[in-house]
Amino acid sequence: MTTIIGIAGSLRTGSYNMALLRAAMEFISQETTMEIASIREIPLYDGDVEAKGIPDYVQQLKNRIAASDGLLLATPEYNNSIPGVFKNAVDWLTRPAKDIGRVFGNRPVAIMGATPGGGGTILAQNAWLPVLRTLGTRPWFGARLIVSGANKLFDEKGKLTDEPTREKLKSFVSGFEAFVKSSH
Ligand code: FNR
Repeated sequence: MTTIIGIAGSLRTGSYNMALLRAAMEFISQETTMEIASIREIPLYDGDVEAKGIPDYVQQLKNRIAASDGLLLATPEYNNSIPGVFKNAVDWLTRPAKDIGRVFGNRPVAIMGATPGGGGTILAQNAWLPVLRTLGTRPWFGARLIVSGANKLFDEKGKLTDEPTREKLKSFVSGFEAFVKSSH
């Protein structure tokens, strides 16, 4: 069984990025499991806290990622870059640095993102690239999913209802899933 972990970089109940991840789950094939992991439980990074021990939730999420076959990140864009809460979460997941290879090394990763704005999170997605390179991941560049005008694409329950976006997401998810399987 192939496992993909999805992480959305927003704490908002009505997050478009979390809604996009949930929609992605609809398109995952039956041979693959996709689990959504929350970043809400991750504290602000503090070296003094780390010196006393990696927080339990961070350790658990690191182990889940290490046991997975791929990582799907849904990033919002803040001020043309990565939101602090999302970067903070990934920063914790890279501690201690000697564990980076186990958690991220060669791990297939895809990035997508949604925004009510017109740029579709393209700058936030680009801002993730040096981070993914530093961590030694295996980024998938087979397609790009940049979702603009997100406030018009989901219904009030957060379901992705816009058909052209659903088609793009479906093709993005199946492309990434094939990449993850071929990386086994
Ligand atoms: C934003 N937003 C935003 N949108 C965008 O397309 N480009 C940007 O540079 C920014 N900058 C920005 C800064 C800050 C501090 C906030 C709070 C917001 C809007 C952002 O895309 C919007 O809040 C999304 O709804 C955030 O994603 P979630 O929470 O819906 O997943």
